[in-house]
Amino acid sequence: MLNIAIFGSGSGSNYQAIAEAIEAGTLDARIACVLSDVEDAFILERARRLGHPAIHLDCAPFKTKLDGEAEARAIELIREHDGDFVALAGFMRIVKPGLLNAFAGRIINIHPSLLPNFPGLEAGKQALEAGVAETGCTVHFVDAGIDTGAVIIQRKVSVLPGDTEETLMNRIHEQEHLAYPEALRKIASGEI
Ligand code: GAR
Repeated sequence: MLNIAIFGSGSGSNYQAIAEAIEAGTLDARIACVLSDVEDAFILERARRLGHPAIHLDCAPFKTKLDGEAEARAIELIREHDGDFVALAGFMRIVKPGLLNAFAGRIINIHPSLLPNFPGLEAGKQALEAGVAETGCTVHFVDAGIDTGAVIIQRKVSVLPGDTEETLMNRIHEQEHLAYPEALRKIASGEI
């Protein structure tokens, strides 16, 4: 069984989708803990409501990466909670080699585009500006690059006439909530 440590910085809707799949019995996994670099992020509130350990991880002095003492603390917290797998769910920091090596091949991420298209920030806006007819979401293994690791699963979303960043991202989120549990199911079942 996967013992998943979730990392997030925002709303946590993907975390909730994973938790609901576990609760529904369609994903054989356990949420070990939920860590956020943002103290008042809604993901921590969701975790408290769902009864999972909800922990603020102070990542200072760094602004865009998880490194140094905070990285060491994260590894310690995952182990304390018997976590053996990491799912990044809207975690807006770059993960460095300390964590990557501690959980080698066992860290995955979700990104709101069909990678390798539109990596990095504001993937929905990037898709609209590029004028593509189709975008989507990707669940992938995390490596040392930004949104570059091996793809596990992708789901497509059409860009509709009149789409704003908000309407497009809302439809991408719906697909993300299916894709993340599906990717974890493949790993939990040993398919990949
Ligand atoms: C998701 O759309 C996820 O793909 C994105 O943040 C959102 C988090 O939503 N992640 C990235 O952009 C990472 N580069 P959530 O907090 O509601 O799960």
